[in-house]
Parts: sequence; C-alpha cells; structure tokens
Amino acid sequence: MSSAASSLPSAWAGAATSAGWFMPILAAAIAYFQYEMLDPEARPLNIETDDLLPQYDFIVIGGGSAGAVVANRLSEVEDWNVLLLEAGGDETEISDVPLLAAFLQLTKLDWQYKTEPQGTACLGMANKRCNWPRGKVLGGSSVLNYMLYVRGNKRDYDLWESLGNPGWGSSEALYYFKKSEDNRDPYVSRSMYHSTGGYLTVQEAPWRTPLAHAFIEAGKELGYDNVDCNGKYQSGFMIPQATTRKGARCSTAKAFLRPIRLRTNLHIAMSSFVTRILIDPNTKLAFGVEYVRDDVKHVVRAKKEVILSSGSIGSPQILMLSGVGPAEHLAEFKIPLLANLRVGHNLQDHIGLGGLTFLINDTASIVLNRYESVQNVLQYAMFGDGPLTVPGGVEGLGFVNTRYANASEDWPDIEFHFASGSTSSDGGTQMWKAHGLAEEFYREVFQPINNRDAWSIIPMLLRPKSRGRIKLKSKNPFDYPLIYPNYFFDPLDMKTLVEGVKIILALSRTRAMQRFGSQLYLKPFPSCQNIPMDTDYYWECMIRMYSVTIYHPVGTCKMGPDWDSESVVDPELRVRGIRGLRVIDASIMPTLVSGNTNAPAIMIGEKGSDLIKQFWGKL
Ligand SMILES: Cc1cc2nc3c(=O)[nH]c(=O)nc-3n(C[C@H](O)[C@H](O)[C@H](O)COP(=O)(O)OP(=O)(O)OC[C@H]3O[C@@H](n4cnc5c(N)ncnc54)[C@H](O)[C@@H]3O)c2cc1C
Ligand SMILES: *[C@@H]1O[C@H](CO)[C@@H](O)[C@H](O)[C@H]1NC(C)=O
Ligand SMILES: *[C@@H]1O[C@H](CO)[C@@H](O)[C@H](O)[C@H]1NC(C)=O
Repeated sequence: MSSAASSLPSAWAGAATSAGWFMPILAAAIAYFQYEMLDPEARPLNIETDDLLPQYDFIVIGGGSAGAVVANRLSEVEDWNVLLLEAGGDETEISDVPLLAAFLQLTKLDWQYKTEPQGTACLGMANKRCNWPRGKVLGGSSVLNYMLYVRGNKRDYDLWESLGNPGWGSSEALYYFKKSEDNRDPYVSRSMYHSTGGYLTVQEAPWRTPLAHAFIEAGKELGYDNVDCNGKYQSGFMIPQATTRKGARCSTAKAFLRPIRLRTNLHIAMSSFVTRILIDPNTKLAFGVEYVRDDVKHVVRAKKEVILSSGSIGSPQILMLSGVGPAEHLAEFKIPLLANLRVGHNLQDHIGLGGLTFLINDTASIVLNRYESVQNVLQYAMFGDGPLTVPGGVEGLGFVNTRYANASEDWPDIEFHFASGSTSSDGGTQMWKAHGLAEEFYREVFQPINNRDAWSIIPMLLRPKSRGRIKLKSKNPFDYPLIYPNYFFDPLDMKTLVEGVKIILALSRTRAMQRFGSQLYLKPFPSCQNIPMDTDYYWECMIRMYSVTIYHPVGTCKMGPDWDSESVVDPELRVRGIRGLRVIDASIMPTLVSGNTNAPAIMIGEKGSDLIKQFWGKL
C-alpha cells in the first residue's frame, strides 16, 4: 500500500502554480483529512498484482473509462481469471481535485499527443498543432477529464441502431447508463432516467458561484428551460452533473476497480505498455499479448479473448501494429496483413472555440489568486466543499439549436461549456499551455487580463460532418501515431459553430449576465485584426486560431454491420476476420454522440461486458 508521504512528490510533479506552496500543501491536506477521515475509499491503493500468471481467460488492454468497467464485470464470473494491463501508473491526491483538472495535462499522467498541422484549425497554437491530452494512468482519460456527466441524445443511439447495430438503440443504452450509476442528487435520482446503487457516483458540485445561477437565468431569457440534459429533453440549460464523490473526482479506477481489489481472479499490472496483440496467421486467432514492463518484454497468453480498451488513439495503433488495418497502409511499414480493415478511419472529435471571454465588474468568478488559499484547501480536504470541487471550472451546460438544427426534434447541434473563469483566470500558469497556445499569442491577448474576473463559454459543435484519420508513424510501438482530425474540412461545421458564437453573444446581453456588467473582451486575435469585428468572418478567424478540442475523439474502430465496408468491429464488438479479439472503448462509436464521451464510454464497457458473458453462456 503506498503511503501518503511517498506518493507526495509524484502528486504535484510537473504542475506549476503561481504559489509554490499550494499543490504540496493541498496534497498533504488531502492525504491527512480526506483519505483519513472524510472518505477513506478515495485513497489510491496499490492494487497491482506482483506475480502474474502465464495465461488468463481474458486479457484487457487499457484500464481507462471502458477498460476498468470490463475488468470489473468479467471478473464477476468467479471461474474466469482476468488480467488488466495498463501503461500508466496510479492516481494522485491532485488528480482527485475537480477544479485542477487542467493541471494534470502535460504531466506524466498525460500521453501528451499532438495533432499534425493542417492549416484549418489550431492556427494560434505552437507549431499550429492542437494538444490532444489522453489519460496514461489507471482510470485512463476519466482521471484527466472535466468530469461532466453527459450521455448524449437518445437519437444518437437510435441512429447507431439504424446504421445496422441491433441492440445499441436508446433504450438499451439507457439500461446500461443506469446500470453503472449511483446518482446522489435526490431530485435527479428519482427520475426514471437515473438510478442509485451502481459503482459510478454522479452528483452536482456542492459549491457554486453566483454566475452559475445567472447562466441558468440567461438561458431562460433566451427561451431555454432548466433541464436535466440526461433526461427527457436535452435542449436546455443546467448545472452540470459530474462523476464526483464527496466533492472529489470519481474516476473509473476509483469507481470500478478499488472496490473489487479483493477479488483474486482479477490481476492488474500497471506500467505495462502493450506493443502487440499476438494473432496466429493461419487460424486468425488472437492468443496473447506482448507488452513491455520495466524495459523487459513479456508475453502473456489468453485462453478465451483479448479485449482492446486502449481508447481512440491507442486501440487503432495497437491493431495496426498487430496486422489489422488498411492493407495499403500496413504495407508501407511491411507489417504482415492479417485483416484488411479501415482501422484509424472515421475519426470524429468535438471542436470548439476557446478564449471567448466576458469581463465582469464583480468578484463572482473563480480566479487563481483567490482560490489558492488555506481556507479553500481545508474546506476541500476536510469537508469536500468549496471552489476546488467545481469540475474543471465548468459551472453550466447548455444545449442549443442553431438555425441549422430543427429545434422541435430536440437534437441540439451546439453544447455550451460555461466556465466561471477564462484562459487568464489562472494568472497564466497552466490553461494556455494545456491548450497549446503559442506564447506570443498568449502574451499579446490574454496576459493583460491575467486573474481578472471573467466568464467564458466554449461552444462545441455536437455532430461534426468532417472525418479525420489516425495513421501509424512507424512500426515502432513507442512512436506516437499521426493524428489528422480534419477539423472544418466540411464547411457546414464552421457555419454551425459560428452560429453558436452568436447565441453566446446574445446570452451575454441578457439581464442575468448584465447584472455583472458582462462585456466581451475586445482585444482582437493577432491574425484577425484586419477583419471587422462582429462579422461571421471574424468569428471564423477566431475559431481557426483558438480551436480547442473538447477531448472526445471517437470512431477509429468503427462498429457496423457486415455490409458496412468501413466497419472494424461487428455489433458484438468482435474484430472482423479475427477470432478471440474485441474492441471495447470509445473508438467503436460509428458516429460521435451529442455530448461528452465519458459516460458513453462507460456504457460501452458495460454493454460490451454483457456481450462477452452472453457469448460464453454466463449471462
Ligand atoms: C482533458 C480531458 C477532458 C475531458 N472531459 C470530459 C468530460 O468532462 N466529460 C466527459 O464525458 N468526457 C470527457 N472527456 C472524454 C472522456 O474522458 C473520454 O472520452 C473517455 O475517457 C474515453 O474512454 P476510453 O475507455 O475510450 O479511453 P481512455 O479512458 O483514454 O482509456 C484508454 C486506456 O488505455 C491505456 N493504454 C493506451 N495505450 C496502451 C498501451 N499501448 N498499453 C497499455 N495501456 C494502454 C491508456 O493509458 C488508458 O488508461 C475528457 C477527456 C480529456 C482527455
Ligand atoms: C422538424 O421536426 C419535426 C418533428 O420531427 C418535423 O415534423 C418537421 O417537419 C421538421 N421540420 C423541418 C423543417 O424539417
Ligand atoms: C456592474 O455593472 C452593472 C452594469 O453596468 C452595474 O449595474 C453594476 O452596478 C456594476 N456593479 C459593480 C459592482 O460595479
């Protein structure tokens, strides 16, 4: 068991804040108060197994949002044994703190991917490449994420089903969302759309600024109800529900793995980097996994199945390295072809505009030089309360319909992430770096308003038409793959997002937001200076400069029926043409859902586990 003291240095390594004392003191207070008294279950435990077996019934690759669920559900079957291999290590005190989510990026908990420069987006970023953080830690991206609990629209799942994927419609999806859920907000949990008693704790932040209420009121002025976006209607505004427990992050490692640490039929190995799935070229049977741990190469065999849950970048990479991918692409690297499938194609991601900042004449917002206080440290560590509980600084969600959506269908095309702060609210310590901004861009536009009270909204395009691709860079598994998101390749994507910006401007002029004297921060973005403000061209220019991923890449191992030549897995998530191999994570989504993707990835983990149990007659 790792002692609090020994895990301290890693807890804040890499994370810089303005006041050097803050992270270490916060980590110490969490170890002392939260883990000892408030919530002993919150302490990361050493749940690794020292002596691994040469062979398991199932091997799960990647302990992220979906993989942690799969490892849990498969090991419910007592006469199966399961190995979970995870490239990263364990969570830390700091990764538990909701407000500090962005501070985990660019640390060793983050894979730190970057997209290839494409000229259509991220033009204000260093080398015109977008940062693509992904969790490299037990719990995967559910440890780095902003914890927003959003399921998407019921039409998304009915669309999946209509594309030839029986069993994936909205009523089955709802069944599996509820299976995981332990909703601790009584006003929500009583609804037929929610449940209690599952592994995954969901609740609102216990603390909020006055801006959160103003945002909901502003929505009403624009004609949007205060809704539960995971309930009957999605269009509307809400205070977010979050995957948090007692004010702290509830990752899938905390939710699904720690409570079952005493199961002897589940072995977990961290710092285990999978390099290849072993597939017999004659029988096309996946019979094992090759991985590197402590610089030593290991092989472990699977008696029943290998489950790939390495996420939308890792899963296609590992498949291609193992001989499953587009024939012409694998030929470039002389990788022997075992199944010719469109692996890495169909990449979809949620893109938004960062830096749309509204200054206020009030101290209502969350700024670093106020929240870094001893009082907030103690309020958080002792009571699970205070500003540090706000998930990533996001205090409101809005699902709105631009003129390109049909409002009466209740299938909104833009999501608002309302933050009671801005890129500059952390005094320039982290946010601009996490977003990957070029330093000159940050200095010119955002530094002048460091720590100024402000709010911002990141509008996000819910159903992009553009499709990107992930390719191998080389056959070396330690080389990162090449990421081509193809943002805005379809012109309707830009037009829709520009309409989203206009709704935000209308929102800033509501009585509710004007009570704080909200004013758009007018400093023009450097390469947009010659374009008249308040025109579609200007907003487009801003979007192309400060494009931000909302971190939802999906679709690179597309699920589909036999007749879908783009599909990589069938509706039972089995890799086509290979036996004993499934993909279970966000990469199987045929189309991106209209919301954040953590809850959907967990749902896929739940449903995928049942498909395996069904196949082996254990359900
Ligand atoms: C910064 C950030 C903020 C986000 N905010 C939200 C949010 O607020 N709400 C929301 O719903 N969603 C959010 N998301 C998205 C959401 O977290 C992801 O969609 C979801 O976690 C994906 O789950 P997954 O199981 O597909 O992959 P992951 O959770 O990424 O899991 C993949 C796992 O596989 C491991 N792995 C990869 N390659 C290998 C290898 N070669 N060997 C061994 N292990 C390997 C990884 O280390 C990782 O643990 C956010 C994501 C990020 C990064
Ligand atoms: C909008 O959706 C409603 C409900 O599905 C439908 O009846 C109507 O025809 C649609 N309107 C347009 C313009 O497509
Ligand atoms: C902020 O501005 C609004 C609108 O201009 C004004 O009504 C309000 O009194 C101001 N508040 C403060 C604290 O200055």
